[in-house]
Amino acid sequence: MAFDRSIKIAPSILSADFANFGQEIRAIEDQGADWVHVDVMDGHFVPNLTFGPPAVKAFRPHVKTFMDVHLMIAPVDPYIEAYADAGADMLTAHVEAGPHIHRTLQAIRGAGMQAGVALNPGTSAEAVRDVLDLADMVLIMTVNPGFGGQKFIDMTAKIRAVREMIGDREIHIQIDGGVDPKTAPLVAEAGADVLVAGSAVFRGGSVEQPEVYGANMQAIRDAIAAR
Ligand code: DX5
Ligand code: ZN
Repeated sequence: MAFDRSIKIAPSILSADFANFGQEIRAIEDQGADWVHVDVMDGHFVPNLTFGPPAVKAFRPHVKTFMDVHLMIAPVDPYIEAYADAGADMLTAHVEAGPHIHRTLQAIRGAGMQAGVALNPGTSAEAVRDVLDLADMVLIMTVNPGFGGQKFIDMTAKIRAVREMIGDREIHIQIDGGVDPKTAPLVAEAGADVLVAGSAVFRGGSVEQPEVYGANMQAIRDAIAAR
């Protein structure tokens, strides 16, 4: 996929119907999702548990766009091959998940995936400065990871700092947590290009009423364009 800095919406299937992932993925893509964001949680790095490699592998044939897998697990390295085998296009690891993020990013690329590096709200932008050349994306969390539907934490200063560090390198800036039509313009203006949204996309819709997903995504795009 050629690099571009246009705004991309990545619905988080954490807010989808867990009994119906295939149809949910098709519904959001039909309605204009740019990427599909898959939240992997281990009940250890974060206080919640979702799914692992076999589930992600089962999602793969349904994803026609780009499968963006956000690991909220520690350790990461023993599972990298399993997520490559599951078909992740982007694999994102947190700097807080272990002492060797540099090695982790090398291993992710070495396994043939794009590599993302994530920062919790309490972690400074400086934590990614020395690994930017190993990263295809920096994920700046705007909630403490673990759950959908939490309140947005303003990280615009961090987004600007990372955007400046990146310069003209081809590295995406992704925002995750509390993104909705109110907060999306703030993060887009600060320099983010990939917006993850769970509750703000799935709210009010279903696979029977997928047009609600489309309208929810359009509301985010409109709010950004109106700024
Ligand atoms: C939070 C996850 C997010 C979450 C976002 O730990 O990483 O991807 O699903 O959900 P909303 O958009 O509802 O804040
Ligand atoms: Zn996420």
